[in-house]
Amino acid sequence: MCGIVGYVGQRSAAPLLMEGLRNLEYRGYDSAGLALLHQGRIAVCRRVGRLVRLEEALAETPLEGHVGVGHTRWATHGEPSEINAHPHLDSEGRIAVVHNGIIENFSELRAELQAKGHRFVSETDTEVVPRLIEEERRRGAPTLIVALIRALARLRGAFALGIVCADEPDALYAVREGSPLIIGLGENETFIASDVPAVLRHARRVIYLRDGEMAVIRADRIEIRRLDGTVVQPEIREIDLQPEAAERAGFETFMLKEIHEQPRVIRGLVRDHVDAEGRPKLDDLGLSSDYFQILRRVMIVSCGTAYHAALYGKVLLENVTGLAVETDLGSEFRYRGPRIERDTLVIAVSQSGETADTLASVRLARRKRCKVLSICNVRGSTLARESDAVFFTNCGPEIGVASTKAYTAQLTAFVLLAAHIGLIREELDPTRVTELIAGLRAVPDAIHYVLDRKDSIRAIAYKHHDGPSSLYLGRKFNYPTALEGALKNKEISYQHAEGYAAGEMKHGPIALINEYMPVICICTRTLDEVYEKMISNIREVEARHGRIIVVANDGDERVRALAEDTIFVPEVMDELSPIVNIVALQLLAYYAAQARGTDIDKPRNLAKSVTVE
Ligand code: M6R
Repeated sequence: MCGIVGYVGQRSAAPLLMEGLRNLEYRGYDSAGLALLHQGRIAVCRRVGRLVRLEEALAETPLEGHVGVGHTRWATHGEPSEINAHPHLDSEGRIAVVHNGIIENFSELRAELQAKGHRFVSETDTEVVPRLIEEERRRGAPTLIVALIRALARLRGAFALGIVCADEPDALYAVREGSPLIIGLGENETFIASDVPAVLRHARRVIYLRDGEMAVIRADRIEIRRLDGTVVQPEIREIDLQPEAAERAGFETFMLKEIHEQPRVIRGLVRDHVDAEGRPKLDDLGLSSDYFQILRRVMIVSCGTAYHAALYGKVLLENVTGLAVETDLGSEFRYRGPRIERDTLVIAVSQSGETADTLASVRLARRKRCKVLSICNVRGSTLARESDAVFFTNCGPEIGVASTKAYTAQLTAFVLLAAHIGLIREELDPTRVTELIAGLRAVPDAIHYVLDRKDSIRAIAYKHHDGPSSLYLGRKFNYPTALEGALKNKEISYQHAEGYAAGEMKHGPIALINEYMPVICICTRTLDEVYEKMISNIREVEARHGRIIVVANDGDERVRALAEDTIFVPEVMDELSPIVNIVALQLLAYYAAQARGTDIDKPRNLAKSVTVE
């Protein structure tokens, strides 16, 4: 969603703000803008479309100044247009505001301000913010901070704000209420940003603003207050990421780089969470063995790709822990009045830790006195802070909008967690646990093998990319793989794709199958009857002349004989096959998108982190 950057220091602000915005491009946006303080005035430049349009405008008319804010906007209120792009100004052009999130009561505030004579120029919810601050100044607020505190007290919703004022030429204001915002501390300069990658090159220490906090930032000092004005002591954290982590490292896209990082990420998780005897090591998780013993139920909540990880977690946890496990989408869970009680562990899965519906679900669970365990990638995120326990997936920044390495890391986290709980509850015998962990150790090499086969996957993608639709089928552990493979395809190639439980095909989607329809069938070997059932489903597709693409294990000539095209992957344990199989489907989607010429890292209409409902 929208990206905020801000700068105060000795250097020229515009290039630094543009660099920060480029590093936030992955969040998704459709317009961008900057506002800089210079010689007692605010100068603004905004453009619709990609940042290059803003760069061209700045090359023609450079903006000077050492203090400023920048923004990438993902339209919510009002179409993507120059007039709706941020920053937004008060009526005299003395206050500039950039905003992430939604001001829920903006219509009533707007009507109230219009009655006082304000003429709004944009359709956005944001514009009420500078106008409210202006109004409070007119009504006699003695300082900008007082005007700001009074104005903020009128806002409802979730937001992060960056604000500059021509009357305070050396200060930058930052506010957080429900949308993430960090302060990056450099050498004699300070940044604000929606996310760490925006400041990685210049700041190695950060302050994560908490909800209900604001900061007044000058080059030599920072003051942090609650929104009621009381001063709070900031907690400064070192960033252990290298700037290269947010760069492409020679790959043509971030997504391709992140697909290739998966073996390393999984190895890292195994190294950090398996002990010398080959048993899971999760003692520092924050939930005791006693707790896992008395636990009766698990509810997993998440959105998008993380929801597919939840579906996998459900099958696995039920198989190895004996617990009853349910899953729900964050956006449904929060409104359906779930019957959860203290004996339910709520597991929230989120790469960003900032997804609005997942966070709302967690807050609901906590109100019902359930413990919350999150599987999360971003340290310092809201989810991590609000959970009783966190399993960090430690993938490094995931910049490509389509989630890849975060997904396989979430699956890996579920394997380790299931083994840990299964052992504690004595549902899983120790030999089985060591087998599972040994199987997990083999997964990174199996993924390397799939990556080495990318040329043949590319050829298959190029052959089938131009149809209007495709169907993905899988069963049991690989039912979520089918859903996730279809999601990857539609997100980045814009080809309609549908993921289905293969056994459900004959209840509807079978009507779609004809000689033009690619049907991607995940049919790696399993030890139970699911493999035979999957073969029957493939035959049903064959009988209707569908174009069958199978993901099969090396040497499986039986399945190959049924297919028009085969993607071979190495055989790993059934339970672990989704971690390998999805890599083949990520590549299939990737090359379909390449063939269709889409913007793979920044697909249209999508935001990396969905911080509004
Ligand atoms: O940050 P989160 O994991 O909570 O994000 C959830 C979804 O928004 C995310 O997985 C989305 O579906 C991705 N675009 C999938 O590629």
